[in-house]
Amino acid sequence: MPVNIRFLGHAAFSISDGTHTVLVDPFITGNPQSEAAGITADSLEATHIALTHGHEDHVGDTVAIAERTGATVFAGFELCNLLGEQGVANLEPANPGGGVGMPFGRLALTFAYHSSSFQGRYTGMPAGLLITMGGRTVYHCGDTGLFGDMKLIGEIHNPDVAIVPIGDRFTMGPADATRAAEMIGAGIAIPCHWNTWPLIEQDSATFRPSGVEVRILEPGGATEV
Ligand code: NI
Ligand code: MN
Repeated sequence: MPVNIRFLGHAAFSISDGTHTVLVDPFITGNPQSEAAGITADSLEATHIALTHGHEDHVGDTVAIAERTGATVFAGFELCNLLGEQGVANLEPANPGGGVGMPFGRLALTFAYHSSSFQGRYTGMPAGLLITMGGRTVYHCGDTGLFGDMKLIGEIHNPDVAIVPIGDRFTMGPADATRAAEMIGAGIAIPCHWNTWPLIEQDSATFRPSGVEVRILEPGGATEV
């Protein structure tokens, strides 16, 4: 069954098998890439929302979308506690290394090397996401630096797609992201988290992992795997 991966701008994606839709890090309102592409938070459908960490450029419109759609939010334990206080009803808390079976497959958190807070409050460990749907596995690295266990994550979980931040400064830049995609070993890599603002301007052409098909999506653009 093909899985549709739509880039919503920055680190936000919509991943769908036609029945279930997982929104990853749905930062839409105030996201220059989403707004330039005419994407609005109100227009997004979701059965599930998966978050990598608590930073505002990742949590984004989660509360409003969850309220409107009733989507279940999968995220780290502390972040789920905070979202519960903000009125999100359906929560699936986890921590890196663990996952939860879902009606479409599985959602799991991996390690990521970064920080995590929301409006000054600590929101637990930052994470990457393993999204298994329709027989495919997508590894969204989250915000992270390069680390050696990306190779192990690739070996154990055998992802079909790696979504890799390339913006530098707050995450890997293109050179480290290239190495990350090679270590993960997914057949397809999709860059994210670049050119949203001047601070993370990069040339995506310098993200060139060998032996990996790079699919560069414009905000609003989609690909099938
Ligand atoms: Ni971050
Ligand atoms: Mn970020």
